[in-house]
Amino acid sequence: MRLSDCHGFHDFRELARRRLPGPIFNYIDGGADDEVTLRQNTASFERCDLVPNVLRGVEAVDLSVTVMGQKLAMPLYCSPTALQRLFHHQGERAVAAAASKHGTMFGVSSLGTVSLEELRKAYATPQVYQFYFHKDRGLNRAMLQRAKEARVDVMMLTVDSITGGNRERDLRTGFSIPFRLTLAGMLQFAIKPAWGLNYVTHERFSLPQLDEHVDMSGGAMSIGRYFTEMLDPSMTWKDVAEMVRAWNGQFCLKGIMSVADAKRAAEIGCTGIVLSNHGGRQLDGSRAPFDQLAEVVDAVGDRLDVMMDGGIQRGTHVLKALSLGAKAVGVGRFYLFPLAAAGQAGVERALGLMRAEIERAMKLMGCTSIDQLSRDNLRFR
Ligand SMILES: Cc1cc2nc3c(=O)[nH]c(=O)nc-3n(C[C@H](O)[C@H](O)[C@H](O)COP(=O)(O)O)c2cc1C
Repeated sequence: MRLSDCHGFHDFRELARRRLPGPIFNYIDGGADDEVTLRQNTASFERCDLVPNVLRGVEAVDLSVTVMGQKLAMPLYCSPTALQRLFHHQGERAVAAAASKHGTMFGVSSLGTVSLEELRKAYATPQVYQFYFHKDRGLNRAMLQRAKEARVDVMMLTVDSITGGNRERDLRTGFSIPFRLTLAGMLQFAIKPAWGLNYVTHERFSLPQLDEHVDMSGGAMSIGRYFTEMLDPSMTWKDVAEMVRAWNGQFCLKGIMSVADAKRAAEIGCTGIVLSNHGGRQLDGSRAPFDQLAEVVDAVGDRLDVMMDGGIQRGTHVLKALSLGAKAVGVGRFYLFPLAAAGQAGVERALGLMRAEIERAMKLMGCTSIDQLSRDNLRFR
């Protein structure tokens, strides 16, 4: 199987599965507990249908949107994800390059493996910095300042990870940073030597967003301990309001689900929210963002930009979310499997196929611009 054999999400996932050691594939693929929410995220799109209009003159379609002050060539961006150089040695560099080529936004995680400054200098396309809130307020201020100096476009605070999700696949394989593999997990690495060769012949693994502040080297601090010891479970709306004021720019909360929280986000001056359950990796049994979208848009859609992520695998999923009122959608695994499968070429191919799918679906729907999509062209069963 080669990259040219990949025509959709499941093909990229299969190629990634063949190339990655099992523990790494399962870290990307898996969710929390019984993975009910993980499955619901995609299943939720199948509970409604698009109702097309025809004969509308659709030779030219404009897919651009403006979200959080950023003009994007298509209504889909690469959501921030951790540890990308572990999946492919090009890591964030590949994702940023592909996003830039397709004129869209990409996120850099606090647990990213390439520095936000390097990516900012290399690409002009809109860049998000994903932030975790630390107990040490001085550290939070320093990190905000650093992102400001780097001229990051959007600050995105993740609020659904106040404690780590229970990812049982990782417990079984021993996946953690640093690695604490079980015997079965080690065997999985041994049978994928090409990954290991790539890993040891490229730049050493590091977490440049944190290295300055936290000693993650030599096993001194694991990512698990980082979450439990350094992040602040006592974080409240008051803390976030202060952060919004300090940032004084595009500020978005990732992981909002309830109408009450969406309203509070608007009240404290956030310019956007992302409805998200972290790709089903945190609270299993929580609702799919797509199912929750309409009521949140109705409540706050005129006060801030509502986005969503979770389970998006098809252009038609994007059209359904936009029809309900999302301004744009984020994807995680949709670009992570292509990254793992083939680096930059993989992410470029996946985003290109997605762009073509959105454009084709728009034409078949009889729409020439995103603002023509509305709830009129959607029916729930
Ligand atoms: C492997 C992996 C790592 C992730 N790391 C982060 C992260 O560091 N910070 C964050 O806010 N979200 C993280 N996410 C969540 C994504 O940003 C996004 O919300 C989610 O992947 C969307 O669901 P999807 O994968 O079904 O598209 C991660 C997701 C995956 C799959």
